[in-house]
This record gives sequence, structure tokens and C-alpha cells, in this order.
Amino acid sequence: VILGIDIGTSGCKALLLDIDGNVVASETATYGLSQPRPGWTEQDPELWIEGARQAVAGALAKAGSVEILAVGLSGQMHGLTPLDADRQVLRPAILWNDQRNGAECAAITEAAGGIEALLAATNNRMLIGYTGGKIAWMQRHEGEIFAKLRHVLNPKDYLRLRLTGEIATEVSDASGTGLFDVRARRWADALAGRVGIDIGLLPPVHESHVITGRIDAQGAALFGLPAGIPVAGGGGDSVIQTIGSGVIAPGELQTTIGTAGILAAALDTPQPNPDGRLQVFCNVVPDKWHCMGVSLNAGGAMGWFRDCLAAGFGGAAAPSFDSIVAAASRSPAGARGLLFLPYLNGERCPHPDPDARGAFIGLTSRHGRADIARSVMEGVVHAFRDMYALMQPIGITGAIVKASGGGARAPLWRQIQADMFGCDVVTTEGAAEGAAFGAALVAGIGIGVWPDGAAAASACRELTRERPQGDAGRVYDRANAIFRSLYPALQESFA
Ligand code: XUL
Repeated sequence: VILGIDIGTSGCKALLLDIDGNVVASETATYGLSQPRPGWTEQDPELWIEGARQAVAGALAKAGSVEILAVGLSGQMHGLTPLDADRQVLRPAILWNDQRNGAECAAITEAAGGIEALLAATNNRMLIGYTGGKIAWMQRHEGEIFAKLRHVLNPKDYLRLRLTGEIATEVSDASGTGLFDVRARRWADALAGRVGIDIGLLPPVHESHVITGRIDAQGAALFGLPAGIPVAGGGGDSVIQTIGSGVIAPGELQTTIGTAGILAAALDTPQPNPDGRLQVFCNVVPDKWHCMGVSLNAGGAMGWFRDCLAAGFGGAAAPSFDSIVAAASRSPAGARGLLFLPYLNGERCPHPDPDARGAFIGLTSRHGRADIARSVMEGVVHAFRDMYALMQPIGITGAIVKASGGGARAPLWRQIQADMFGCDVVTTEGAAEGAAFGAALVAGIGIGVWPDGAAAASACRELTRERPQGDAGRVYDRANAIFRSLYPALQESFA
């Protein structure tokens, strides 16, 4: 079997995949996140290591006796894990959703010569949360710690260090630093020099399937695994879960409805990134790229609705998601003209705006809870379609949508996607396991179980399929045009 390990934001998952693409066992160990100030999110890297130890032990206990052929790693992207010369952690890791470095990102953009210059060097903006801006933040605000800083690792690459003793990363996570030349698949040294960041802080970079090292004696003792097992590069979670949903060729789209919402596609060439509103990264197989839009409001908007609106007053417990979805299915496509703008936490794509806010538009006294629930689900998919509208001009098309994340478990949410994208929506085996499944596939490529990305992606067997129905698509086309006009119309009132 192949072991995939994913260092998520809320927990670590370990998954054992056999060489026919069957999930043998998986286990998740959860951990928390600290928010020492508003907008700051941090984690002690030791939580990841303890989570990985527990998850690996749990998965192995479920599987019985198995031989592990290789390990693949995945994790939350953009997390800054700072190490000193002795490879000791200097301060808690600063996570992907941390909002503290706006001023530093703006300063980097200016020093680079503006957004166009950044796009020329990396094909991406320096978005708030990207690692590059966090290095600058440490330099400015934590001078004493910064003086000791010798290595900056992503979360999964810190796990690699503890497993193998090697300092290394791979092209997909490197892309999320904002300091990586995504077209040439190497560090953007000249840009880093221009913006005053020492590129020597960042690790050597490999293609994602490459075996970067082997489990050493310390890693073996810590994780209860045999020494000598090869560890592949792996990938950033939101990139590697795309191949884990079977998406590696142009013409297919992947949607993820987790806390955040992701619309992603695989590219054969590093397409331009219009105005830097999308994220164009290296994919986890050589000569392939990845395009995605990340919305900060997807499953999280449903969670808010459940906790805040659907729960009764007087301490009544919040209803289950299933009962909310059941109610929503009693409202027709278009929720009788009610639209929900989901920007409850500000937004990243298509509107990079921390001040963006949510809204219900078109509310009347004939709307009931079912319509409101449906409008929340539809609003999340309207936001996907807005991201798709950014992708279409650079040649990205979707003849099929592969849906993943917790939201894909609801047939209604899949049907809304089929009607709104006007194509079939499928779920695949393994996609529900998230990035750990993709990590195992990529490690399988590394040891030759699958010859290439296409063969690995074909291990993702179809489970469900929804097709566009009736004239819902026409209803949604009209609704989407109105939805799209709302942010520009309301933007001033948000600020
Ligand atoms: C990707 C991103 C998130 C994190 C979450 O750009 O910010 O998907 O990787 O784990």
C-alpha cells in the first residue's frame, strides 16, 4: 500500500491506498488553531507531528498487516514554518488564512514594480496569506526571531523533515509562496532580490512525484514506520486534491465545497492569470499547471446559516445539514427570486476584498425558510460561476464537473452545480478523502505504480452522476446575471 498523509487546518488524515486504487483504511486526528489576535491564525507544528503520529497509527491498526511501499505528503498551503540553523521551530507557524500581512504584501508589490511586474515574475499576485508576505512581516515585526531564521518550510515539508531529515519542497507548494516562477518551475531569485527577501531561506524544490528522501531512524522511531521507505514530494492540498478527484486533463473542472470553496482546473500550459485574480500554480505532475479560484465562503456560509438562522430561538439545537438540505429541496430552482451574496468573511476570488460582505437580495414576505436555505446553497454556486467567468477567457472550459468536499455529499448541491454549469456533475471514489488520497496517488507515480498523472487520475472511479434538468439552467442564467451585478453595486456600502 501507499501511505498518504495530509496536514490539514483542523486535523491530520492518514490514508492507505492499495495499488489498484482502493482505500484500505484512513484515520483522522484533529487539533486546534490559535487566534492570538483578530485576523491571526497560528499552529504549533508539534500539533501536526502528534496528529500525524496518531493518524498513521490509527490507519495502520485498521488495515492490519500491510507493506508500505511509499509515503506521499500533502498539507495546508502558504503556512510559514520558521526554523533556525539547528532546524528548531522558532515560533508557531503562521497559517494560510492569517490576515496580518496586508501592509507587507502591498510593500512587496510596490518594490516589485506593481502587480504587472509580479505577474511577469511569478504569474501570481502576492495575496494576503502567501508565505512571501509573512517572511517580510517577521522581518519587520519580530527582528530578534528573524535574525535566527534560516529555513522557511510549508507544513507538509516540516513533516518531511521529521520523517526523513531532509529539507525540501516541491513545485505546487512553492507556487503558493508568491516567490516562485510558476512558468519556469523554479524560485524567482531576481524578484526575491528586488523585494528584499533572501531566497536562500526557501528549500530546494523538486517535481512533486520525485522521491525526496527516505524515512530515517528518527522518523521510524517517531512514527512507528520501517526506516528506508521512500517519501515523495507530494503537494499543496488544494492542488493535489484535484488529481485526487480525477481531474488532470483540460476540459474538466473540480469544485470543492469545504469551509472555503475552490473551483479548479488542470492546464497543459501556464496560462496567463488575468489581473492576478486567479491562482495559477504548478500542478503535481511535470509539464502540467493548475488554475484555481478560492472563495472564502462556501460550506462556512451553510454553517453560519445553520447556527444563526435555522436554529430555533430559546436555545433550541441547530438542525442537521441534512434537514436543511431537505427543506431547501422544497423550494424551486432560483428560490423564488431570492439571491444570497455569500461574502460573510470578506472574499478572495473573484473579488479580492477583505471588506466584502454578505447580503440577501429580493426578500419578500412570501419567502420561507426553505427558500432562504436554497438561496444560501445557490449563492455558493453562483460564486463558483463567477470564478468560472474569469477562467473562460483564458481558454478554460468544463465539459464535466467533479465535485468534492463535504458539500458534495448533498445531492441537491450537486444538482444545483449541474444546472448552473450546464454539464454533468460526478463524484469519484477517494475524492471524499480529500488531499491524503491525492498525496498517495502522487507517491504512486513516484515509485512507478502509475506511469503518469493520467493513469493515476483514472484510479478515481465514478460514484454518482447528476445531469442538468429541465429549464433550471435558464432560471440560473438570469439569476447569475443579477448576482454578478450585486458586488459592484454594493461595494461602496461594504467599505
Ligand atoms: C489555497 C488555500 C487553501 C489552503 C487550505 O490557496 O489557501 O486551500 O491550502 O488548506
